[in-house]
Amino acid sequence: MFNQLQPVPTDPILGLMTEYKADNNPKKVDLSVGVYKNEQGDTPVLAAVKKAEEYRLNNEQSKAYLGMAGDVRFNEAMTNLLFGEHDVVKSGRVKTAQTPGGTGSLRVAAEFIARCNPTAKVWVTNPTWANHISIFNAAGLQVEEFPYFDFDTMGLKFDQTVETLSKVPAGDIVLLHACCHNPSGMDLNLEQWQTVADIAKQQGFTILIDSAYQGFGEGLNEDAAGLRLLASQVEEMIVCSSCSKNFGLYRDRIGAISIIGTDPAKAEIAFSVALGVIRAIYSMPPAHGADIVATILSSQELTSLWHQELDEMRTRINGLRSFVVDKFKEKGVPGNFDFIAKQNGMFSFLGIDKESIATLKKDYSIYIVGSSRVNVAGVNDSNADYLADALAKVLNK
Ligand code: LMR
Repeated sequence: MFNQLQPVPTDPILGLMTEYKADNNPKKVDLSVGVYKNEQGDTPVLAAVKKAEEYRLNNEQSKAYLGMAGDVRFNEAMTNLLFGEHDVVKSGRVKTAQTPGGTGSLRVAAEFIARCNPTAKVWVTNPTWANHISIFNAAGLQVEEFPYFDFDTMGLKFDQTVETLSKVPAGDIVLLHACCHNPSGMDLNLEQWQTVADIAKQQGFTILIDSAYQGFGEGLNEDAAGLRLLASQVEEMIVCSSCSKNFGLYRDRIGAISIIGTDPAKAEIAFSVALGVIRAIYSMPPAHGADIVATILSSQELTSLWHQELDEMRTRINGLRSFVVDKFKEKGVPGNFDFIAKQNGMFSFLGIDKESIATLKKDYSIYIVGSSRVNVAGVNDSNADYLADALAKVLNK
């Protein structure tokens, strides 16, 4: 039975992470997977998380099942984090379930969409996070792309976005990134979110938001402004969120799916379908990460410690963006990289060719995703010269 199988190509992001770990070059630089790194190149457990874990260790009362939706305290806390004091929360139109990471929430969303409309097409930004396409395909859904990022200007091609979205029919899904667009770092401004909301209302398609970086762009509320604007104006919406980056809980796999219905009763029905999907895939999510997030968000002291740590991560990334631009100029890296300082979150494209990316890995142990996406947080004072020198040499050839 297994003899007929063909090997699956290595994942374009996680494959590099494995290669980087196995590389013995002491000068190696990892700009691949989207994991925050501090100035020392480490990804330490946040202090707020450590404190919450200590509390959990001393106070956990039971390991009995929680149910398909997971931890209700977490679900309430995540709903508030995403939507704030929003009408959809006050009116009971949004229902949230804990999921195993952001990928888990997207997969549940994909199966949920397939149950709503098996012929729905899912429209994703061109480019998007590579795994989006696999996740929706795995649920039997067709994925289409709409123009988003312009490699000529390293900015948005919003006119073309509008043109394509204006033809997307009711019954299809449009997937948008809440903030810190992965992989381009280019986000919609509020006026552009409003334009998308107008098109969604006119066309009747459903919006799915992937919110994996809340707090990494401009701030917790600022990064949710687009999704909150949409939630005020559309009747139905899905939000998939992740606590991997903003709580640094990557390997604990903690995220959520929030479903907004036209009224509380319809939201409840939709939610029951999502719970049915969850039951058939993994029954219920693991408890640890949810308990940590719920403990942090229910304590004033831990919340303010977490805010401090999140601000620190965001400030470091934003500072690195200008630092990288200046360093590239200083070292004579050919090209204009000013756009990096204007983008959001961990990622930007360098816009360099595949051959150069391969040479950087082979000759310098510098790991960059094949699309030329770099994780800016992988840069620090100790590796910036090495990186910029290598880029200058490789690109000046
Ligand atoms: C990334 O884009 O690097 C992260 O979201 C990690 C992943 O799972 O790909």
